[in-house]
Amino acid sequence: MARVLVLNGPNLSRLGTREPEVYGHATYADLVRECEEAGASLGLEVEVRQTNDEAELIAWLHEAQDTGAAVVLNPAAFTHYSYALRDACAMLTTPLVEVHISNPAAREEFRHTSVISGVATGTIAGFGTDSYRLGLRAVASLLGR
Ligand code: DQA
Repeated sequence: MARVLVLNGPNLSRLGTREPEVYGHATYADLVRECEEAGASLGLEVEVRQTNDEAELIAWLHEAQDTGAAVVLNPAAFTHYSYALRDACAMLTTPLVEVHISNPAAREEFRHTSVISGVATGTIAGFGTDSYRLGLRAVASLLGR
């Protein structure tokens, strides 16, 4: 079964209470469950992780490359400025789908730049936690599932 790492950057563990008017009411635990259910129905082995630590996120991308796992990545605020994360993403030879819960293009100016999009296979943003389900569907289709 194809393996997919669903990787989440800073502050996403706070979903449910973090700015619910922007990010909705689903908790991080809800998000994990939704991703696992979507993975099961798509025939993908899904593992969901979250970190506030840039170095840890980069190490997980190295792991994805070393193990041949596809990646669904919500880089959170790192989206907008982390060249180190971008370089790690650029190394991937497996599908990489960038996802966002909100639509950064419709928010503050600093969120309009993604340093990740240019090295992602594609980006899905603005559909709440459904962005992850859509991201997993994109991975399944890229892998011919
Ligand atoms: C986010 C959007 C980013 O601008 C923000 O820093 C986040 C979450 C999203 O999922 O909408 O932390 O990636």
